[in-house]
Amino acid sequence: MPTKSHQDQKNLLLLTSGGDSPGMNAVIRAVVRSGHYHGFKVYACHDGYQGLVDEKIFTMEPHSVANCIQRGGTIIRSNRSHEFLKKEVRDKCRKFLAQEKIEYMVAIGGDGTYRGAAILEEEGGPKTIGIPGTIDNDIVGTEYTIGFDTARNTALQAIDKIRDTATSNSLYFLVETMGRNSGFLAADVGLAGGAEFVITPEFPTSIPELAKKIISPRRKKQSLIIVVAEADSPGRSFGMAQALKLITPGFEYRVCILGHIQRGGSPTLLDRSAGSIMGNMAVEGLLSGKSRCMTAMQDGKYVLAPFPNPNQPSRRLTDESIIKLTQILAS
Ligand code: F6P
Repeated sequence: MPTKSHQDQKNLLLLTSGGDSPGMNAVIRAVVRSGHYHGFKVYACHDGYQGLVDEKIFTMEPHSVANCIQRGGTIIRSNRSHEFLKKEVRDKCRKFLAQEKIEYMVAIGGDGTYRGAAILEEEGGPKTIGIPGTIDNDIVGTEYTIGFDTARNTALQAIDKIRDTATSNSLYFLVETMGRNSGFLAADVGLAGGAEFVITPEFPTSIPELAKKIISPRRKKQSLIIVVAEADSPGRSFGMAQALKLITPGFEYRVCILGHIQRGGSPTLLDRSAGSIMGNMAVEGLLSGKSRCMTAMQDGKYVLAPFPNPNQPSRRLTDESIIKLTQILAS
């Protein structure tokens, strides 16, 4: 391990902000251990920016992250802080960080997390690198966000189970996935789960259009699985099922909202390895003088990329081919 004199000591604060996602602990472990390896003293705070607002920071030693790589959630907890949105509160945070000689920060989360980090740095706060952590895979500038793979596998296992009941009892299921305004989860899960239809905010289908396909004489199946992305109204599948029942009264519809089950659980290999690589990359990026950027995957490679423009909407599905293929392969 490189040795540092006391004056050279670099202090880094680590936090997870916004919704948790599986794989965040792999990131935390990598930042703490790589940070120590590179001579940083690593601090963390609980509950995202709120821990900073409350001035409750604590040191993290390499042993503090033992046995966490396989755990879901985030061992330092995460939250959304409304107080941190206020300039006077951020000024207080900045002064506190300066007093603690913390010049570097790694913030794991989504768009809101980066907005907070960018503004704090702009106002004279620590140099920050962000790491994309959300099950939605919807951050502009990266093809992958930590947690997405675990979430899609969790949803896939659920669909396999729902299929048992759907086939045994000749039921028509609407299975709702998370993903806010992006259909990445729904599209992958629909294809891999053998669904017949996938409905996402980017590629919606009207109820009459869907009903027409359901009652088409070409369909010979006794059961049906439609994957619906929650879009901006979680639970919307209930209304859709009611509307479908009115037009196609001969079928029995059931709704299953997968919800927060998709956010939990032990992370997959991809989320652990991406988390480990991105965590180390953030530390090395700060060490080489980079900041106000995030770790990202672009063209299949890990890179440092600018923070997304805060005025830009989240990343959305632009390619309908997976959704079309899902339909073709299920017919
Ligand atoms: O951003 C991740 C996500 O899981 C979205 O898919 C979902 O809409 C949202 O968080 C729900 O968040 P919460 O219940 O924490 O407000």
